[in-house]
Formats: sequence, structure tokens, C-alpha cells
Amino acid sequence: MEYGPAPESQKEAQAWLEQHGRAFGLFIDNQWSEPGELFASTNPADGAKLADLTQATGDDVDRAVAAARAAQPGWQALGGHGRAKVMYSIARLMQKHARLFAVLETLDNGKTIRETRDIDLPLVARHFYYHAGWAQLQAEEFADYRAVGVVGQIVPWNFPLLMLSWKIAPAMAAGNTIVFKPAEFTSLTAMLFAWICVQAGVPAGVVNIVTGDGRVGEAIVNHPGIDKLAFTGSTEVGRLIRVATAGSGKKLSLELGGKSPFIVFDDADLDAAVEGLVDSIWFNQGQVCCAGSRLLVQESVQEKFLAKLRARMDKLTLGSPLDKSMDIGALVDPIQQQRIAGLVESARAEGCTVYQPACEIPANGSWFPPTLITGASTSAAVAQAEIFGPVLVAMSFRTPAEAVQLANNTVYGLAACVWSENISLALDVAPQIKAGVVWINTANQFDAACGFGGYRESGFGREGGREGMYEYLTAKSEDARPAAPLREAQAKAKQAAPASGGAFAIDRTAKMYIGGKQARPDGAYSRPVHGADGSFIAEVGEGSRKDIRNAVEAAHKAGGWAKATSHNRAQVLYYIAENLAARGEEFAARIAAMTGSRNAQKEVEASIERLFYYAAWADKYDGLAHQPPMHGITVALNEPVGVIGIVCPNEAPLLGFISLVAPAIALGNRVVVVPSEAHPLSATDLYQVFDTSDLPGGVVNIVTGSADELARTLATHSDIDAVWRHDGSAEGCAEVERLSAASLKRTWVGGAKGRDWYSTAQSGGRAVLAHASQVKNVWIPYGV
Ligand code: NAI
Repeated sequence: MEYGPAPESQKEAQAWLEQHGRAFGLFIDNQWSEPGELFASTNPADGAKLADLTQATGDDVDRAVAAARAAQPGWQALGGHGRAKVMYSIARLMQKHARLFAVLETLDNGKTIRETRDIDLPLVARHFYYHAGWAQLQAEEFADYRAVGVVGQIVPWNFPLLMLSWKIAPAMAAGNTIVFKPAEFTSLTAMLFAWICVQAGVPAGVVNIVTGDGRVGEAIVNHPGIDKLAFTGSTEVGRLIRVATAGSGKKLSLELGGKSPFIVFDDADLDAAVEGLVDSIWFNQGQVCCAGSRLLVQESVQEKFLAKLRARMDKLTLGSPLDKSMDIGALVDPIQQQRIAGLVESARAEGCTVYQPACEIPANGSWFPPTLITGASTSAAVAQAEIFGPVLVAMSFRTPAEAVQLANNTVYGLAACVWSENISLALDVAPQIKAGVVWINTANQFDAACGFGGYRESGFGREGGREGMYEYLTAKSEDARPAAPLREAQAKAKQAAPASGGAFAIDRTAKMYIGGKQARPDGAYSRPVHGADGSFIAEVGEGSRKDIRNAVEAAHKAGGWAKATSHNRAQVLYYIAENLAARGEEFAARIAAMTGSRNAQKEVEASIERLFYYAAWADKYDGLAHQPPMHGITVALNEPVGVIGIVCPNEAPLLGFISLVAPAIALGNRVVVVPSEAHPLSATDLYQVFDTSDLPGGVVNIVTGSADELARTLATHSDIDAVWRHDGSAEGCAEVERLSAASLKRTWVGGAKGRDWYSTAQSGGRAVLAHASQVKNVWIPYGV
């Protein structure tokens, strides 16, 4: 059956643009500035100019940050209920003006009205309602947290208004004030949103919107008055932001690119999977960070599935985005069209088969037909790069293990789809895929209650859900941290020659601990360890790049630890505590000899308690089961991060070590630990404790030596997933953050500040467990 055109009217949207003279200034402190240096915003479907926007300057960003700073205490003081009322008002107004927003978004972005009207706008309103709820409950549910302060938010052009709501709603709910920058291609709905803010009674300075290109983004990123940055966009810019913010103390969340697998097993409902694939890769012309752009189909059904897919592609309609019967609209800009065409041509040149249905491409504007590529190798550019267009690359697999291996053969880790009528198989595969979201028998589902965000180079941090709120909150215990670690504890080992005598002058060099075995340092060098009185106590190995490499390898081999039951992990932690207690006096004497501490016994007891503490948490840090509007459940799993490199503090050499290692291994991570540089023997004494406590080899690996050098190696190692550094070195922590940008590792650094390792508030709790885990949301619809 053929459908006639069903165009949505653009009259109101055009009238709104006319009303504003088709030129917009900046929205700062609830005032509109006069339009400044202008750039044009065009309709990608026909190239017509819609309006002019202002390229903000550095001074404008200064003004926006100053307005946000001035407004923050008042916004916070308004209280949860006060903020909830304002946010509820925004949600109501968004619904009231939903049609105007939807049409304006379609004009500005080129995506179909079907999507802006039925997906984007309902989700935007839902986001404000949901987060109005968190504002209301904040005092009760986040009692130990405060707002971060002034946040800078930068979004891309693919979901302009939806990304605005994902950013602004949680930030407002938590009591922050905002400097927001939309993408230069698509700023118009943000302008309309500013108008809604005034109507909803948002106090001046709470939401500030500055427009312009990447230079404005950079000004926000580098502004010293910003406390937190939230960015969605390309991995390339995400990396730049990670480097630019290193050492600044700014909180950071990055939602970056993806190359998400769409796995179809032979027992899947193939027709449903084809529809899922349409929603996955041809939704928003494939300009979706979580687009299912890699089809992995089981070999036995490959031909059948691809035939169904090609038949479905033939029916996809492409044309005017305002036409309600269109499936595929325009690309955001001709530059994207060129980029996509270039990648498809490279595949053709490599001998791949390119299938495109015969569809009429409009004469003006930026368009690209739905495209299916087969015959690509796993290393081909089209199989690895984020194409960000309506291009699907198909491959086959034979076994579930091969499907998982192919799915994880990417630097990204944003999302995945698994299609199988065998729920046991699907739920077995889901945890094995390194991605922040897994949709089972469905695709591209979103809800404000369910967190969204990536693993690996897809970024870090989550948007939505409880976990999304933490991105805009700071634990109050952070404010109580001492300004710097205790001076004497910071003392580095003195380079005196080994001398004889002294309580611990045993003729030995403590080795490294790698893969559950004691190992000599690769370089065969050692360094002396001195006591508080300067006397020589012992030697430890001088760890090198090679030792770290061996340790990381051992840690990866111990991957079974992540699959061990949490009960089992708890048992091992209790056992370590028990064996440490049995040798408590010896450990206390060692601490006293190294540090001169009069509280050595207290430190040992606190370490034993901390082991109990994380053993207790091991089987209680459960995930959540969300019930989003979809008929089904979304299970938020707290998964381990993987292999974590840890640089320990110098103060409290045993307690500091235990306080960092125990939460990491309690949740299934494996660690490569650099113990206190000045007082490493508390860690090297633990080998026998570990050996007698059923801790599998490779779960904890210890490399002694220079904290700076080893931290550098950890931060640059491509097989380490996270680095924690807490030795009070501001420059060392900044360097870890800077170097981690290459593979976008998660980092948790203490900066120059100290930490009371005895205080559970400062050194324990969910905030620490959150660093040791990442949330994966698995969507499981049923009865459909
Ligand atoms: P982009 O990452 O350059 O832009 C995203 C936002 O960041 C825009 O608001 C931009 O003005 C801003 N920005 C640019 N440079 C900046 C800087 N140095 N500092 C701070 N902010 C900066 O993405 P772009 O150029 O729009 O698209 C290029 C490619 O990136 C796309 O083809 C696609 O592959 C990918 N992309 C991925 C997205 C995702 O969600 N995964 C979203 C947008 C683009």
C-alpha cells in the first residue's frame, strides 16, 4: 500500500522564529544579550537558513559562569521541594509546547517528525518529571551529598533537546547551576527552552545558554569557575577534555562514541529482530551514539536474515522529515554526508558488497540512503570506526563464544543488542559484553530511571537513574578531608647506604608479588627502605615497566575472580582478615619501625576491620531492578571495572593499602598495586597472608618502586581499565588523569589533599564502591 504525503505544519515554528527576528543572542542570567558575531543555522533537509545564532566569546562565558556562581547558593537554598516545583513546571510546559518543540527540532536537525514527536519530546518531559522527583527526595535519599556547584555542559547535534534534558534536569535537581552549550548545528530548541525556563520561574542565573562552536566549548572546559563538566560527543573531543581538565579537580563525565553490536542468534524471532535493527541503525539516520551498527548474525540463519533485512530496507521511506510517513530524514550537515560516503567508498574499494535500496534522494539538503555492507573484515575501517550514519556492517559467527569475542572486538563499549528466544542464552551473553547498556530482544530503549553510559572508550559516568544523580553530587565527606597528608608520613625513603643492625635488618630483598608468586624485579635493582630514625630496614625491588606488564598479564589471567560468587569473594576477604589478625603484632612492629607511629597496633586493627567491612559489602552492593514504561524490567548490574592500577598513600601504609585494595577485589576487580613508596614493607609482608587465605593468584599483584614512574606506566598501559592514585602528589595525580586520556581509563585520584584512612566516611561507603564498579543496564522486555 502506498501512503500519500502527510506533512506536519511548520507554520508555528516559523512564526516563532520570525517573532525573534530570526537572530538570537545568548541567554545569561535570564536575560537575552543582543545578537553578536553571528553564524547561520540551516535546515538540513533543504539547506534553507532558519536563523542566525551568536558565537559566544570568552567574556560571554565569563559572564555566564559568574551568573551561575551567584545563583547557586540561592538555588540550593530553595530546597528540594522548591526545585521540584520549578522542574515540574518545566515538564508541564514542555508537554504543552511539545508540537512546537518537535517541529523546530525537525527543521533544525533533519530528523523525522515521527521521532521528535513520538520519542524525543516524551522522553524530554519524562526526564524533567523524573528529576523533579529526585529534587524532592534529595535531602532524604542523598543526605550525605551536596551539589557540586557550577556545571558546564556541552552536547552534540544528534539529539539536541533530549541531550539538553539529560544534562540540565539532573544538574538542576541536585542544586547545581548551569552553563550549557548546544551544538552549533542545532541550537534552536535550546533557545526555545530558555524561553520555557523564564515561564517556569527558573531563577536568574540557574540556567545559562551560550551558543557557538568548539571554541566556546573549550572556554567552558578551561574556565576555572566550573566545578563539573558533562560532555556528550565524539571520542576525539572527549579525550581533549580529559587532558584539559587533568589536575583541575573538576568532576567529569563523558558520553562518547560507540560501535555497538547487534547480535542475532539462530533461535531469535527473525522478523522482530529485523524491526529491532531498523530502530537500531536507521533511527535518526544512524546518527546515534548507541546505534547497532555492527550486525553479528549466526551463520546458520545469516542468508535468511539478510534476505529479510534487504526486503525491509526496500520498504524504508526517505524524504521530507516533516512528512509523518517518512522513516529516514536528512543528515545534519553536508559534512556528515561526505564523511559517511567516504567510509562506504573505502569499504567498496576493499571489495565489500554494498547494498542500498533504490530510493529517490531529494535534490537539495544532506541525505544518505540506508546501507548494508557485507564481506568486511573485522579490522576494516567500516567495522571499527563510528560511521555515525545509516550504514550497517554485517558479519557472521558460529558459537555464542565467538559472538561475544566479535562483540567485544572494539575500543568502544556503549551498548549492545542480543536477540534470542532462549532467555538463558541471552542472559548468559549480556554480562560478557563490555557495554554499559544491553538490550535483549529490543533496541534503543531509553528511560530517565535507567542509567545510560559507556565502558572503555565510550566514556565514563552515567546519565539517568540514581547513578546519574551522583554525577552531579559531591560527598560531604570530601569537604572534611585534610588539606594535605601528614608531613612526616609523606617523607620519601632516604637514599642512605644499607647498614647493618636494627630490628628488621634481615638479609633479604622483598620481592614483587605477581600472579600469586614472589618474583624478582625484572631489572634486578632494588631500593632501600628506611625506618623513621633513618636506619636501614630492608630492600625492596625497583619495579619497572616490564614488572607492571607481567603484573597486568597475571591480573588478566585471573579473570575468573570476576565470575566468582560474591559470597566466595567475601569469604576470602574474611580469611585475609583472620590471617592478618594472627600476625597482628608482627605487622604492628613493622609499621612502627617504618613510620615511628605510636598507633601501629591501631592501624592493624583498623585494617582488619576494613577487610571485614568490604567483605560485608561484597555480597550486598547489589544492583537494582527498574521498571521503566516498557513492559519488562531493566536490571542495573554493578559490574567490576576490570584491572585497576592502584598507587597507595604513604601515610597509614597498611590501612591505606587495604582501604584501596579491599573494595576493588570485593567487587571482582583484579589489581596491580604500587604500595607506599616510603613504607612498602607492610604490603610485601602480606604475601604469606594472601597465600594462606585462598586468594587466587593474580587477583592482587604488588610492584614496589617509584610511585611516579610506576603510576606513569599504569596510566599509559592499554590493558588497564582504571587507575587510582592517593599518595598526595598533586602533579602525579594530574599526570595520571592526563595520560589516562589515551585509552579513556577511569581515574580516581586524591590530588594534593590527604584522607583520614581511619574514617569510613572518607575512605569507605558507596562512593568508593562506585569507583570499583560500573553499572550495566540490561533491558529485558517480556510478554511481547
Ligand atoms: P564533536 O564532538 O566535535 O562536537 C560535540 C560538541 O562538542 C559540540 O557542541 C561542539 O561544539 C563541542 N566541541 C567541539 N570541540 C570542542 C572542544 N575542543 N572543547 C569543547 N567542546 C568542543 O562532534 P562533531 O564534530 O559534531 O561530530 C564529529 C563526529 O563525532 C561525528 O561524525 C560522529 O562520528 C561523532 N559524534 C559522536 C557523538 C556521540 O554521541 N557519540 C555525537 C556527535 C558526534
